[in-house]
Amino acid sequence: MSKTYLVTGGAGFIGSNFIHYILERHQDILVVNVDKLTYAGNLENLKAVMDDERYAFIQADVCDREAMVRLFEQYHIDYVVNFAAESHVDRSITDPGVFVSTNVMGTLNLLDAAKSSWKTGEDSYREGVRFLQVSTDEVYGSLGPEGFFTETTPLDPHSPYSASKASADLLVKAYGDTYRMPVNITRCSNNYGPYQFPEKLIPLMINNCLNRQGLPVYGDGMQVRDWLYVEDHCKAIDLVIQRGTLGEVYNIGGHNEKPNIEIVKSIISYVAEKVDPSIDERLIRHVSDRKGHDRRYGIDPTKIREALGWEPETMFAEGIRKTIDWYLENRQWMEHVTSGSYQQYYRAMYVGR
Ligand code: NAD
Ligand code: DAU
Repeated sequence: MSKTYLVTGGAGFIGSNFIHYILERHQDILVVNVDKLTYAGNLENLKAVMDDERYAFIQADVCDREAMVRLFEQYHIDYVVNFAAESHVDRSITDPGVFVSTNVMGTLNLLDAAKSSWKTGEDSYREGVRFLQVSTDEVYGSLGPEGFFTETTPLDPHSPYSASKASADLLVKAYGDTYRMPVNITRCSNNYGPYQFPEKLIPLMINNCLNRQGLPVYGDGMQVRDWLYVEDHCKAIDLVIQRGTLGEVYNIGGHNEKPNIEIVKSIISYVAEKVDPSIDERLIRHVSDRKGHDRRYGIDPTKIREALGWEPETMFAEGIRKTIDWYLENRQWMEHVTSGSYQQYYRAMYVGR
């Protein structure tokens, strides 16, 4: 039976990968992408599907309560997949307010709009609907050298970004507990792959290597992240939508823990091999550390593996090559982002069509 996905933040990195993923795998669906198009939203990511009759784009802010209510009136929405967020930790340190607006208040608006639209009686909702909150391992705080985050690890966010994501998670949980809304929360580790904005470690380093610019490594570069190829994340989210137990939290991780400095060195060596052997580690610059920098993240994905049979399919050595190859084959995408011209894409392609 036909299902309608409301994907928020679908013009961003993971959201656009997710839209491609579900349109390729499910025939009989409608995908409504609602995105404010902040600096992180790029409709060029969705060029290949913009004329697909199963896809619709609406420019709106998740903080605009009336606009969210109207969306639920306009479409028969079955699934909400809430990616819309301010997502960059460094920006949250300099400007926390917008993180609270979008990540906390935006989530609250969406929960309210879904609740009113889906309600069929006291604490009962239309059959088959689901609200999936895309969260992050950063809500658990930082690990020492041993151990992993499980779904029962206490929340201990450190940055304004992770505090806003933890707040949103608690609201989603509260709507499940209080109003019996059909919700799930997924918490994943660092994603990488095509269409990632070059403020984040991997695309920034690739772009700087290609431009022979310095590679800024925060502090000693020994902070550890658990890298997840974005398509593996999309697959996990879709599995939770299809078969996850309502009310549950699922951690999603790649079993790919690496210190930042190792990531940077592996990017240098592959770009040098593919493009120019003179690109080398002399580009590395150790710069001041991020304030409150979490030392290590590591996910225990046992629950989603045992419950839904999910495993990451792309290990880092393969994923980083695929990712660098994508950026090399899509130099124009990066040029449009770094020149800022991607922000005119919406007007050029949509307005007055
Ligand atoms: P992104 O910054 O690339 O994209 C965010 C998207 O949300 C953009 O298209 C932006 O225009 C849109 N947006 C921002 N504010 C909005 C608003 N007020 N209303 C409507 N749309 C708005 O982010 P991403 O890296 O794709 O992350 C997506 C989600 O996944 C976020 O919720 C993030 O917290 C979570 N997450 C990301 C990672 C990661 O490694 N990137 C890991 C774990 C969790
Ligand atoms: O763990 C999941 C999180 O991963 C998501 O919730 C966030 O939305 C996403 O942005 C990401 O957060 P990080 O802060 O881990 O990602 P970022 O790419 O900004 O940084 C990765 C690591 O690299 C981190 O330890 C900081 C470091 N770093 C980052 C940049 C941009 C550098 O050393 N130099 C840099 O220039």
